[in-house]
Amino acid sequence: MTNHFVARAPGRVNLIGDHTDYTGGLVLPMTIDRWTVIEGSHGESTITLTSADEPDPVSITLPVENPAAAEPRWGRYVAGVAAEIGVTAIPIVGHVTTTIPVGAGLSSSAALEVAAALALGFDGTAADLAQLARRAEHRASGVPCGIMDQLCIAAGVADHALLIDCHTLEIEAVPVPHNADVIVQFVAHRTLAGSEYAQRVAECERAERLIGPLRLATLADVRTIDDPLIQRRARHVVSENQRVRDFAVALRTNDLATAGRLMLESHHSLRDDYETSTPAINEAVRQMCATPGVYGARMTGGGFGGCIVALTAPGTTTTGWVVRAVDGATIDRT
Ligand code: GLA
Repeated sequence: MTNHFVARAPGRVNLIGDHTDYTGGLVLPMTIDRWTVIEGSHGESTITLTSADEPDPVSITLPVENPAAAEPRWGRYVAGVAAEIGVTAIPIVGHVTTTIPVGAGLSSSAALEVAAALALGFDGTAADLAQLARRAEHRASGVPCGIMDQLCIAAGVADHALLIDCHTLEIEAVPVPHNADVIVQFVAHRTLAGSEYAQRVAECERAERLIGPLRLATLADVRTIDDPLIQRRARHVVSENQRVRDFAVALRTNDLATAGRLMLESHHSLRDDYETSTPAINEAVRQMCATPGVYGARMTGGGFGGCIVALTAPGTTTTGWVVRAVDGATIDRT
């Protein structure tokens, strides 16, 4: 019996709907044609992985009890997944390669988690895979992330973005218009992302204690919040959910000008109300939007650095690269 496997998980870029997933809101990400690949075979009793990009290999003894203590650090994501799978996790020996830039806000860690879950024997729906990988991320990094990255990577559809309701986990595939390019431009590695992220999650919880679930709140509800900072955070989330709805309609009706305008409005909301952008990202968005052929651009993902995303006429010359949506994570066993 051969037991060779190749597990592949793409990265993702979010077109619109940032910092809405952890309050059960709406997001519209798409996978990108860059992948993390784990290739290997069944092992004896441990998970042993080398990586093309990391000097030190990972050796994880099963069962895993404390994934956050795994060394080197990149092994924590794999250890988190193994801990979540529990006693049925399959020992493996393998090698990891990736074409997703690490630490750039394109979900390289979520791709590693999803690929690892498949390699370690997870077998279930895309939603279950995503939830397991999300819990693994919480355990591995302590960052209380939402479901967007893992679900997009698990459920990706070629040439489509995914409109995801993060409360029901319902997914609607929305075709990326043929007459537009999606561009990703790397700006800077992320800084302070973990602690600032957790702070935003806590601020949303404060807002929800005052006005109830933000996914159901109106801007009139938001105006009743006395604390100006919490009011701004809530205003971002509530207005962003509406922008995601409007953006999905704009994509479906090929109204690229409206789609681009909504992206820029989203950026301004993240910059001013949610304060997750940086001066370098703002400048990159400004320059991108001043380029002929660009409909709109915004920061994408958690923020505090990373990448910007733009919607442009085909063939527009920019400093970024064109990305294409691909199918979600897979495993081949031979
Ligand atoms: C990170 C998190 C996601 C999401 C985005 C912001 O990528 O992992 O869950 O919250 O930030 O939209």
